[in-house]
Amino acid sequence: MLQGLNARIRKFAATLLTERLDPASAGAAVFWGIFIGIVPIYGLQTLAAVGLAMLLRLNKPLTLAATFINNPLLLPSIVAASVELGGFLRHGSFLPWHLAALSDAQLKDQLVSWVLGSLVLGLVVGGAAAILTAAVVYWTAPSQRSLRERIRFVNQTFAKSAQFDRGFVRWKMRLDRIFCLLAAEDLGSGTVVDLGCGYGMALCFAAFADQGRHLLGCDLNVHRIAVARLALSTLNAEPIVCDVLHYELPPAGLILILDVLQYLPAEEQLALLRRCCSALEPGGLLIFRVHDRERGLLSALTLGLDRLLFSAEHVGARPLILSAEQYRSALQGAGMQIEEHCFRNRLPLAHLLFLARRAAPESAS
Ligand SMILES: C[S@@+](CC[C@H](N)C(=O)[O-])C[C@H]1O[C@@H](n2cnc3c(N)ncnc32)[C@H](O)[C@@H]1O
Repeated sequence: MLQGLNARIRKFAATLLTERLDPASAGAAVFWGIFIGIVPIYGLQTLAAVGLAMLLRLNKPLTLAATFINNPLLLPSIVAASVELGGFLRHGSFLPWHLAALSDAQLKDQLVSWVLGSLVLGLVVGGAAAILTAAVVYWTAPSQRSLRERIRFVNQTFAKSAQFDRGFVRWKMRLDRIFCLLAAEDLGSGTVVDLGCGYGMALCFAAFADQGRHLLGCDLNVHRIAVARLALSTLNAEPIVCDVLHYELPPAGLILILDVLQYLPAEEQLALLRRCCSALEPGGLLIFRVHDRERGLLSALTLGLDRLLFSAEHVGARPLILSAEQYRSALQGAGMQIEEHCFRNRLPLAHLLFLARRAAPESAS
């Protein structure tokens, strides 16, 4: 029991330390930590940092660590710089400033300067540190290096596609955080099947580590499949035009369904998931993405964008997203081990990613 508790604590600590450490999120955590550390809300800084990190889904330890810019060594310089900066912004010139000035009649004036100056100083120092952090994470984190290499691989694979399609692939790779999440996962071995594969970018992404990997995909869109067939012709890939509902699933190590379930009626969605679970080899992984219905305005925006897409593609139905619980129980019913990630995309879209693994023989007991 103690061992179980230990493992849970270790897992919790690891999650805390590593959550959302992509360049933009790490930069945002440092920015807010430093900003909070500089503005004079002494006594409330820890609370404010943790609260904001939870609200904005930032890495909490990093946000908190950045507030330690406010330490006994730097505090006098921060206060002095804030007062001077505030004074300069209000009166147009730096004032001779010393601690005694805080106790004379100019105290109120100095206090206002301090608050104003600290806000500006927080923005400037926080902004500079955020840029530096994002750059360091971007260039040094192994996961980011591997992500960059994979993205380059996909872009090169599609380099001979028509300009519009090539551009679409580039933008999608740049903007869609799904690829950061996929890069962080062990995508296993064996056949990859992408249901509703579109251009086949995810297939290509999955083949980065093993370019002989068997890649299968289907989509109703004839143009996208034509682009996929041409671009992936150097890989062991077979994208075909076919309805996911009629696609015969072979035994697979990885099955992807990214932003496709919403095109299907409820029962068909759940039946497809069940079919995928039984097609997976032991240890195989099913990854699917749907909208997150629980994120208020972001959920509304995500649904709104999908409605636009549906009407542009003349889909004769409305996007249908089931509750997370419905997806979860379909997977649980099939005996899968489930992981869920709620994430906000770079565009203001809210998604839910399910990773469902079929137990490997040794962990099945
Ligand atoms: C939003 S796109 C996602 C494409 C791809 N999965 C990706 O992430 O880039 C949805 C795709 O699902 C395809 N699709 C929708 N209903 C389908 C069905 N019943 N069978 C096969 N493909 C389908 C559409 O043609 C479209 O290419």
